[in-house]
Amino acid sequence: MNILTFRTNEELNEAGANIITSLVQTNPKAIIGLATGSSPIGIYEDIVKTFRKGAVSFRQVSTFNLDEYVGLPIDHPESYHNFMQRHLFDHIDVPASQINIPDGNAGSLTEECARYNRKLDDAKQIDLQILGIGHNGHIGFNEPSHALLSGTHIVELKAETREANARFFDSIDDVPTHALTMGVGAILKAKTILLVVRGESKAEIVHRALTGPISTECPASLLQTHSNVVVLLDAEAGRLFAE
Ligand code: GLP
Repeated sequence: MNILTFRTNEELNEAGANIITSLVQTNPKAIIGLATGSSPIGIYEDIVKTFRKGAVSFRQVSTFNLDEYVGLPIDHPESYHNFMQRHLFDHIDVPASQINIPDGNAGSLTEECARYNRKLDDAKQIDLQILGIGHNGHIGFNEPSHALLSGTHIVELKAETREANARFFDSIDDVPTHALTMGVGAILKAKTILLVVRGESKAEIVHRALTGPISTECPASLLQTHSNVVVLLDAEAGRLFAE
């Protein structure tokens, strides 16, 4: 595992964006797994800057997002569809037909999970999967549990996850109770995993996940079993690694 701590957010953003744009420059048909949350936003901004300079094109790239809320209209500002459009897709040249995000408004959520799994199977392997981490160690929306699922599935969000994400909604009652998420099997199948973590409030969980016991009660701890993980931490999130 390659754990890198950055003094400034600018340096972290640049490093993250470089990893992704270099991948696409060498492999224009790269398959990229994308994440939402606040941690990747600065990286997406730097990717857009590189794109605007004409240094990279995403015309042949395919993307798979990790997760989506159930029942939130696609045009809701906090839907992950809307988040991805706003922060990335509206500003680069990836064709809409090559963008994959689970549909949390599908008539049959079970069928939607099966469809997403088929798409992932057809893609064979994600080249690079971007990940964040929840305060309770979740990845995507794979919440701590006595067992984790491999494929895309419906998940009931933990109270602490709804509370953490309430900052983006008018009130906690507006935070959806369920989500669709890629499973840990699909995440761990990626060739490279890029974990991005920022802020003091994540210092303990990221340290425990990457150095503590491997347990389904801390889904991010399973990253320890992957042979190619790059971790980008800001100074606050990386505090315990520096000690
Ligand atoms: C949400 C997403 C996760 C993300 C997490 C952390 O719960 N479903 O994929 O990793 O938020 O978000 P942040 O980057 O804002 O800390």
